[in-house]
Amino acid sequence: MVRCVRVPKAEGESARARILEAGLLDTAHRIGSEDGFLLIPVTSDVEGMEMCEAELRPQERPVGDYRELLTLPEGLSDMLPSSFDVVGDVGMIKLPDELMPFRSDIGAAMMRANHSLRCVFLDSGVKGELRVRDLELIAGEGPSETVHREFGARMHTDPAVVYFNPRLAGERHRIASQVKEGEIVIDMFAGVAPFGVQICRAAKPSAVYSIDLNPDTERFALMNRKDNRCDVLEPITGDATLVVPTLPMADRIIMNLPQIADRFLPLALSHLKRGGTVHMYKIIERDDFPKLCEEMAAMAAEDGHSISLETSELKTYSPTMSVYSIDVHKLRSEHPLL
Ligand SMILES: C[S@@+](CC[C@H](N)C(=O)[O-])C[C@H]1O[C@@H](n2cnc3c(N)ncnc32)[C@H](O)[C@@H]1O
Repeated sequence: MVRCVRVPKAEGESARARILEAGLLDTAHRIGSEDGFLLIPVTSDVEGMEMCEAELRPQERPVGDYRELLTLPEGLSDMLPSSFDVVGDVGMIKLPDELMPFRSDIGAAMMRANHSLRCVFLDSGVKGELRVRDLELIAGEGPSETVHREFGARMHTDPAVVYFNPRLAGERHRIASQVKEGEIVIDMFAGVAPFGVQICRAAKPSAVYSIDLNPDTERFALMNRKDNRCDVLEPITGDATLVVPTLPMADRIIMNLPQIADRFLPLALSHLKRGGTVHMYKIIERDDFPKLCEEMAAMAAEDGHSISLETSELKTYSPTMSVYSIDVHKLRSEHPLL
């Protein structure tokens, strides 16, 4: 039997993060579940949390470094990426041209080092309006359709036909934790609805509309709604610019289309209740970011909205560009001080 903390599933991720921060997570065992509760293994009792004993499975072999399993010609080993994406049991790696002749060996090494991988794809980046990855199978067996686990949720997806970014898990968690009971939420570029799922799991919105132009997303979003019991999640296939005006005014709008999201801000603000928030993402030259914020504020003022911005640099995108998260709050009054 293993000593564990017992928490409702909805609070599982924040409890796990607290336990990890306190240095009390028992990493030799896997997290278990029973009757809507998570059982988080710990090395000693955690104050203020419900403790219990449970049979938990031992953790599988720790993930190794695939680079140590490869012998490449002189000078090439340094080009091996230190990280790659894992969606469910599918690994995806970006490689420079010099490593292309070795891609099958690299994929095989990734699978040997990470036993949870069923297959590995070479990732040549996202393409086109639908932001779908260009993938080539380099090790293991397809299909690329898989189920990704994120903060206890099951996300059905297929990286070869729809966009899904496992690296945004933290952002989804951050936004979901802000949603208040009864809110109407619109996700304009929703993919397989991971934001919607996390919002429905963490809060009690009255409706979450998850729109996407890619018709393949709706099938996965519907599976995700069912598996995660998100009854108020409504996947909609279509162009957000046409769909949004047909929906009720929202308390919160998510715009994860970072190349061009700012172009949709006027529409989002016009469909947002006062006191509401637009969560948007933007890839931009770091030097140009302050100007973008000024332009957004000026544009909003021209349309008669008073806004305030909260921004954060999420990650570097290139030597000179970064991905930013921008929370645009539509103020209750047209006068910023009221
Ligand atoms: C970067 S992905 C974000 C997906 C999702 N929010 C996530 O985090 O996994 C952008 C999505 O926007 C969709 N898209 C692009 N233009 C659109 C439009 N005009 N209306 C609705 N969806 C659109 C694409 O099909 C793609 O799935």
